[in-house]
Amino acid sequence: MPLTLKKLHPSFGAQLLNTDLRAIKPGAIGEFVDLMDEHAVCAVPHEVPLTNEQHINFSKLLGPMERSAKKIAGTGKRLPYNEIIDQSNLGPQGTIYKNGDRRLAFKRANRLWHTDMSFYQVRATYSILSAHIVPPEGGNTELIDMRAVYHDLPDAMKKRLDDMSAEHCYWHSRTLGGGPSPSIEEKAGRPPAIHPLVIENRRTLRKSLYLASHIRSIQGMEKNQGAKLLKELNEFATQKQYILSYKWSVGDVLIWDNLATMHRATPFPDQTYVRDMRRTTCREFEI
Ligand code: OGA
Ligand code: MN
Repeated sequence: MPLTLKKLHPSFGAQLLNTDLRAIKPGAIGEFVDLMDEHAVCAVPHEVPLTNEQHINFSKLLGPMERSAKKIAGTGKRLPYNEIIDQSNLGPQGTIYKNGDRRLAFKRANRLWHTDMSFYQVRATYSILSAHIVPPEGGNTELIDMRAVYHDLPDAMKKRLDDMSAEHCYWHSRTLGGGPSPSIEEKAGRPPAIHPLVIENRRTLRKSLYLASHIRSIQGMEKNQGAKLLKELNEFATQKQYILSYKWSVGDVLIWDNLATMHRATPFPDQTYVRDMRRTTCREFEI
């Protein structure tokens, strides 16, 4: 059956209307990667959510998978799969985290613009987020096409950024997001990583600006100067025209290329409604 595709935004994002991710065969994944290279974000609705196993099996086709993050103190597991990151507001017993719970505070940091796992030296490529329960209001995911952002930067800025790198640190965004300070063990478990600010897709050679709330400093720049440059870039990137706001339905799977986009969760009444979202992540290389 020919692929039916609906554009989600003038510059990026596509909804695939007759695709079942459970039916994609390894031989067809090249075509899917081409789609991702073009659109950077693909939404794929399903009548019922993928099971955890189906979610993992599809993700495996897209590259080496992230397995089990380092332990955060007090974290129990609601979903017993090393490949699945529980992005819900539910604790291990399946009840809503109460205000003030540090695990909820860390999750709320997803409301800052970021790319997934840029705080690892081996970066995330694709994130695959699956909606199991969605709240009746709020809780959209917003995404930005960082290729379009880079393209639109003034030439002088492009030149300036050419050889610049940034230091990405998980704890930086957790603290910025209002989370508590990490313990010494937590800090040691997730050391910072350094990445170029401008990256290039190795198949299409399209350039993209690699920003995230995880960025703590710019290499070789004095702290205030670096912060000023980051503020300027973030203000440029988060202009309305670059943003796609995705409204979820149960069963939707949203796949984004972390090396071409930036994203954030939007608020919802997380003390009232359940939002059960589950993520798998692929990385550049097996580690
Ligand atoms: C993520 C993420 C946003 C959301 O899963 O990486 O940032 O809307 N999610 O849940
Ligand atoms: Mn994220």
